[in-house]
Amino acid sequence: MSSRFPPRRSSDDGWNVIFPAGFVWGSATSAYQIEGATGEDGRGESIWDRFAKTPGRIRDGTSGDVACDHYHRWREDVALMKELGHRAYRFSVAWPRVVPQGRGAVNDKGLDFYSRLVDALLEAGIAPYVTLYHWDLPQALQDEGGWTHRATAKAFADYAFAVARRLGDRVVHWITHNEPWCASMLSHQLGEHAPGLRDGRAAVEASHHLLLSHGLAVPAIRAACPGAQIGITLNLSPAVPASSSAADAAAARRYDGWMNRWFLDPVFRGEYPADMVRGYTRKGWLPGDLGRLVLPGDMKAIAAPSDFLGVNYYNRAVVRSDRVAEEDNRPRSVVVDPGAEHTDIGWEVYPEGLLQTLLRVHLEYRPAKIFITENGASYSDGPDGHGRIADTRRVRFLRDHLVAAARAIDLGVPLAGYFAWSLLDNYEWSHGYAQRFGLTWVDYATQKRTPKDSALYFRKVIAENAVE
Ligand code: FCB
Repeated sequence: MSSRFPPRRSSDDGWNVIFPAGFVWGSATSAYQIEGATGEDGRGESIWDRFAKTPGRIRDGTSGDVACDHYHRWREDVALMKELGHRAYRFSVAWPRVVPQGRGAVNDKGLDFYSRLVDALLEAGIAPYVTLYHWDLPQALQDEGGWTHRATAKAFADYAFAVARRLGDRVVHWITHNEPWCASMLSHQLGEHAPGLRDGRAAVEASHHLLLSHGLAVPAIRAACPGAQIGITLNLSPAVPASSSAADAAAARRYDGWMNRWFLDPVFRGEYPADMVRGYTRKGWLPGDLGRLVLPGDMKAIAAPSDFLGVNYYNRAVVRSDRVAEEDNRPRSVVVDPGAEHTDIGWEVYPEGLLQTLLRVHLEYRPAKIFITENGASYSDGPDGHGRIADTRRVRFLRDHLVAAARAIDLGVPLAGYFAWSLLDNYEWSHGYAQRFGLTWVDYATQKRTPKDSALYFRKVIAENAVE
């Protein structure tokens, strides 16, 4: 592969750091994290509106009611992307803006907003990558059982069709779901995200219906938009045993099954991993008769041929066997290297994990194409006396992860693009506004946006199609 991209420059240890021609560069956001305007133009309530207002759920007690006020400032934000040299933008559509009650009447005003945004992006030379579900389920569907309820999958496919019919004349790239692990396990088993349940069985049911909804949405999007390129975004983490003991190795394997294989295997192989099916059945999270949850045809639908896989990569899990934690499938993550660096949200900085993840997915699952649909770091560095934001740790984070991405390409991974998380500091879910992942600083009192040093660094990378 490297012969196709002759090294003009190289990283410290001599690897190629030039990206292939046509590599897609951009940033990502999601609706609830940036839009605000939760009560405007007929938007319905989402499970995140409800969750964020439930006392005790969000660390700083805030909600996405205003967030980055992007719903009103989208023109300015598109201009910012253009100024920062971005060539693509991954954003999500809020289901409750488009179908306020989850199913039934479509709200044209909601679609109008995204239609205007798409036009502005295209005019600025920025390719839209649309995510259809980034966690903001209409509350009306939650009231019927949400993702634990099979009918939600069908409602999602109908919503996907409505969006694709309106935007499909201009949008080529579609992502059905963002991180179904978060929308099922983190939110139904661990209770940390909306709807905040702690119920393993509900989590597994939700995971199946989320995956099924992906499978039903793929043909629905293709029907509305024949040239569509469609994929799903998974958050993947390599699971590494904390020691050479057999118990730790087994724990790491289970963690990998819970986090990675439970989603990769159905999408690419049309089956759930047998070891996890056994484990979940033993726990009572799956019915003894699997056929009560997984109906004939479901697995074939889930494995509907797609055009790419989106990979969100943040960190790895170093796993130690622990009986108590194992009961809720939550093996402990331990830091092996006491010198390891962590970002402000407490996640280990581990760029090699991106290379490991990309190679593993390529070798074991063979997606036709991969996009890194999110990668980024929470650092709270703010403006100095001159208004400059010298976020040198984020610059280094970006650089090291981009070197890992370039290396993956050299090793044959069909990696086609990279989206930095995030364009803007924004509402970081249960952490509220305290965690800042943006390339751009947002002053929440004035809504002023200021590009950080990392944004300027990223602009240079994009312009040169190479890492310095
Ligand atoms: C991912 C989410 C994204 C953001 C980043 C930090 O799990 O997809 O919305 O919260 O983490």
